[in-house]
Amino acid sequence: MVELTLPKNSRISKGKVWPKPANSKNVREFGIYRWSPDDGENPRLDTFYVDMDDCGPMVLDALLWIKNKVDATLTLRRSCREGICGSCAMNIDGSNTLACTKGMDEVQGAIKVYPLPHMPVIKDLVPDLSVPYAQLRSIEPWLQTETPEPQTEWKQSHEDRAKLDGLYECILCFCCQTSCPSYWWNGERYLGPAVLLQAYRWLIDSRDEATGARLDELEDPFRLYRCHTIMNCTQSCPKGLNPAKAIAEIKKMMVERRV
Ligand code: SF4
Ligand code: SF4
Ligand code: FES
Repeated sequence: MVELTLPKNSRISKGKVWPKPANSKNVREFGIYRWSPDDGENPRLDTFYVDMDDCGPMVLDALLWIKNKVDATLTLRRSCREGICGSCAMNIDGSNTLACTKGMDEVQGAIKVYPLPHMPVIKDLVPDLSVPYAQLRSIEPWLQTETPEPQTEWKQSHEDRAKLDGLYECILCFCCQTSCPSYWWNGERYLGPAVLLQAYRWLIDSRDEATGARLDELEDPFRLYRCHTIMNCTQSCPKGLNPAKAIAEIKKMMVERRV
């Protein structure tokens, strides 16, 4: 079994080692980030052992197994366990992903689980996403029109509908947002890849009539132009989307409207 090691100067101390499940021959080791605002302690990495013969195959299964059978205070978000709600996003084995779709068999050795990086932590694996949610609200992610509402529905051609493919599937997990170095350093001012992908989703929607105003809002050295095409965002998206491409398309729209 691989022993968990921490960087020498890490502010995260090695935490409690919880007992191995009795009579189990098929055990998997976990290192899980723990921090509580209530005890005044520094963050620590607790070691847990999960009985694989009594647990489902995904990392989320193991976290819930630990919560139900070992330490009920372990705190995490989850809802759908189907890769749809985006709430179980965390850093597993060094990458941002969804705990419910990450198979334990995809990880070698001890499985290390941290909250999404560079976000304030509320408790354990729960990051504070107030800033990205406020940024999402700022781009007004809903249909805006001036023409009177049709009696039935807003119509869209098949071709125009297809332009939303690769965008509407975003589940707002913020795996991309929190893997972006530009967002780490300028998170209060740069909108970040998840929010910009959403912005593009409305810019490219043929039914929306606020394109000019939406572009005006983005025309800012920080809100849009802090993207330096590093591509971490696209690599980390658990839904296989391409926020970096969406950002490049917005920049193209900015150039095209100037000519
Ligand atoms: S491509 Fe842009 S948004 Fe994506 S990680 Fe790089 S800087 Fe961030
Ligand atoms: S683009 Fe992908 S990684 Fe980013 S928020 Fe949407 S689903 Fe999550
Ligand atoms: S629990 Fe909903 S995406 Fe994982």
